[in-house]
Amino acid sequence: MKVTKAELAHVAVKKEQYPTSHLPEIALSGRSNVGKSSFINKMINRKALARTSQRPGKTQTLNFYEINEMIYFVDVPGYGFAKAPKPEREAWGRMIETYLQDRDQLKAVVQLVDVRHAPSSDDKAMYSWLKHFEIPVIVIATKSDKIPKGKWQKHLSVIKKDLQMIETDPLLLFSSETAQGKEQVWKTILYYASL
Ligand code: GTP
Ligand code: MG
Repeated sequence: MKVTKAELAHVAVKKEQYPTSHLPEIALSGRSNVGKSSFINKMINRKALARTSQRPGKTQTLNFYEINEMIYFVDVPGYGFAKAPKPEREAWGRMIETYLQDRDQLKAVVQLVDVRHAPSSDDKAMYSWLKHFEIPVIVIATKSDKIPKGKWQKHLSVIKKDLQMIETDPLLLFSSETAQGKEQVWKTILYYASL
């Protein structure tokens, strides 16, 4: 996929601020610091359009990135960020649930997990919550550059099993450092966006 145009088109904390166009939307989900914003940047070939940080809790709003006037990537605050004050975490939680639960344009959620580790209890809860609402989930095992190639398959099987992934949800390997998996991930996202 050749990205010719990408911009942060909308920043929302409530429904009234969502885009009014009817372009398909793909939302990012995953624990804080797993690499959601880095994923967006790599997919659209921009170094820092989505703000990233070594400190968790960087993204705090729903950020709608419009790509080629064709699709939105929605960057979402990460979960499991215990350091944020509780009222703030609860407000993010409500904001994210409201968006994910009843957004017709939402075609799939890209759930990022760290390929190095077995899924956390938050990862499992998130996946099963998305399944409860029958939202298609593309699971991306990211930071593949951090472990040797020989270990990839084994780690992928653990992720698939621990999340209790359903057969129709794809599981793909990715790295924001090396761009590994990028074309396959684009293909998969565009397929879901077309449904
Ligand atoms: P929040 O906004 O806090 O929810 O975090 P996030 O999920 O958006 O994470 P972000 O993209 O800001 O990345 C967190 C850190 O992980 C940064 O230091 C990134 O450089 C690093 N990182 C992200 N993806 C990769 C990857 O594929 N490989 C490596 N080696 N580092 C990565
Ligand atoms: Mg982020």
